[in-house]
Amino acid sequence: MTTDRGTRLSGKVAIVTGAGATGNGDFVGIGQAISMLLARHGAQVLLVDREEQNAETTLAMIREDGGDASVFVGDVTSNTDCQDMADAAISRYGKLNVLINNVGISGPGSVTDVDEELWDTVIDVNLKSVMLTSKHAIPRMIEAGGGSIVNLSSIVGLRAGSGSPSHPYAASKGGIIGLSNSMAVHYGRDQIRVNCIAPGHVHSPMVARHSSQEMLELRRRAGPLGIEGTPWDVAWAALFLASDEARWVSGATLPVDAGLLAATPLAMFPHLQGPE
Ligand SMILES: NC(=O)c1ccc[n+]([C@@H]2O[C@H](COP(=O)([O-])OP(=O)(O)OC[C@H]3O[C@@H](n4cnc5c(N)ncnc54)[C@H](O)[C@@H]3O)[C@@H](O)[C@H]2O)c1
Repeated sequence: MTTDRGTRLSGKVAIVTGAGATGNGDFVGIGQAISMLLARHGAQVLLVDREEQNAETTLAMIREDGGDASVFVGDVTSNTDCQDMADAAISRYGKLNVLINNVGISGPGSVTDVDEELWDTVIDVNLKSVMLTSKHAIPRMIEAGGGSIVNLSSIVGLRAGSGSPSHPYAASKGGIIGLSNSMAVHYGRDQIRVNCIAPGHVHSPMVARHSSQEMLELRRRAGPLGIEGTPWDVAWAALFLASDEARWVSGATLPVDAGLLAATPLAMFPHLQGPE
């Protein structure tokens, strides 16, 4: 992270779900980078993760950096855990201003072969969780005079992804965008902003687990900028959308994708052939 400490979120209390990272610690996860950047810019951050150790790692990184955060162990598919999560933000920090719904798992398979149980799990973890966390966070945000919700979708929520089909994942990430738009309208008069980030081919722990070196290289080359995206690129977008700088931005889906969604497949064809 190459940034000075800032005050863009001073006085704000934020929840980040999936605040740990599932990798082996080689590089940060998206939720981890978001948590660190929010704390570095003055927010008090509740680090929510179902794996305590993952969240503790993020906490240690934030403390070493001089930030203020604490861990809440919970599963975002549990209504009770989500209620306790919102209550914990109030009991520990007195209010709630920002909710970052970052939890997401991969979901392979096509509609003709996907296992029905896997489908339900992916929809629960990626999409139902946004409803459950928001259900308990929004009343607290209204008490605080408004707030900002940032939901992690994906370019796969807008366009079919590459390689083998990932229909449960696509459905969950597309659903997040539709849900966010409706929430933005419905809670607008409560001064609650709801936006999505659609990350492109970010090199994150989730991707590293599922991609060969060849695939990682293709992912980089497919973007008009031709450079690899990192969790920090996504975290900067989240910081902006969480902050008052974005006070007039709601119902938006921001691609963070090296320009990928601007290109047709044939536009990028020369960059995917031969040496670069
Ligand atoms: N990496 C990419 O290229 C990319 C692209 C588009 C979107 N995204 C999205 O970005 C988000 C973060 O991805 P990542 O690779 O950093 O994640 P990750 O796999 O590192 O997971 C982050 C954390 O989420 C926690 N978690 C998982 N299920 C949970 C649950 N039910 N309750 C609470 N915590 C849970 C895990 O324990 C882990 O610590 C996801 O929503 C993903 O879909 C990533």
